[in-house]
Amino acid sequence: MTAPIFIRVLGRPLTKACIRYLQWRGYTKIPERSKAASPNPKTTAAAGLLRPTENAASPLGSLTPAEAPLIEAEKLSEQPGPPQYFYDEDNLATPHNHDFIDDPRFQEALAISRSSPLGMRGYYHGRWNIHVAIWAASHALALGADIVQLGVCEGAEASAIINFTNFANRPQRMFLVDTFTGVPEEQWTADELKAGANSAQWAYKESDRYEYVRNRFSAWMNVTVIRGRVPDVLPSVTVSRIGLLMLDLNVAAPERAAAEFFWDRIVPGGIILSDDYGHSRSGVGFIGQKIAFDEFARSKGVSVLTIPTGHGLILKPGTG
Ligand SMILES: C[S@@+](CC[C@H](N)C(=O)[O-])C[C@H]1O[C@@H](n2cnc3c(N)ncnc32)[C@H](O)[C@@H]1O
Repeated sequence: MTAPIFIRVLGRPLTKACIRYLQWRGYTKIPERSKAASPNPKTTAAAGLLRPTENAASPLGSLTPAEAPLIEAEKLSEQPGPPQYFYDEDNLATPHNHDFIDDPRFQEALAISRSSPLGMRGYYHGRWNIHVAIWAASHALALGADIVQLGVCEGAEASAIINFTNFANRPQRMFLVDTFTGVPEEQWTADELKAGANSAQWAYKESDRYEYVRNRFSAWMNVTVIRGRVPDVLPSVTVSRIGLLMLDLNVAAPERAAAEFFWDRIVPGGIILSDDYGHSRSGVGFIGQKIAFDEFARSKGVSVLTIPTGHGLILKPGTG
């Protein structure tokens, strides 16, 4: 018997609530055996994700006691729209617990982070993405080490971290490095360009954001904004103990060079977080960054943790 495509997509039988959610998103209900399967344009457009299958028995009604909480959640969300417990943002859809969103400190940091010009126009990191960045930064601070971010743009992630962690009262430092005018075009390989790695360049090119970012963080004496091209500018980053190195340049070569440059200064237990590592399958061509990050990890005898937000994470082994 052909397994229902729903099951293949999410890896387990779907609850009533999840099916209702998918239907709300416009996907086809799995047809009953007696009904002819009629193609749904939206389903087809979804690259075959939810194609009707001939033998798919409807999972409706096959609920187990363990699924009762979801039924309760469904009852609570009878209003139009996705069930409240379902996270669906930034290429990540899951019913997994994401109650970090309810933390008032998180909400405040997020709101401030999104208050920049691009953020106000709706171009911002998803909440889970920000959650990962905040978690990694908090980890670095717990190690007593500094944070370096390569690829700042308007400072959305930096702002969320700074506000969530009350960074002003920390002894650690944060270094924010960017050209503030986009990726130096010659750094992309032909393969990266073919894959569309430059698809967001318009946003970085539309204005020079150096003064904006300097002003945005001028109240924090332990935050240093550095304008320059990675890797050439890296010797001017006066950091000795890195707990978190954030890579978000949208181009592989300088990210790889920076990881090499800073590796010895990353403290044991410190993290390198690649923002675009897993984005190569979501329609944006960042596969070059994944290949480079994997190669780098192998050269250091470690491996990359793939996170469903699209992040790749390397944890430097050892104890401090
Ligand atoms: C995706 S954005 C960074 C977004 C940022 N992490 C945030 O919190 O919103 C990428 C940034 O990397 C910068 N960039 C790309 N290549 C660079 C390079 N070789 N040296 C310095 N900055 C670079 C661009 O100017 C752009 O602002």
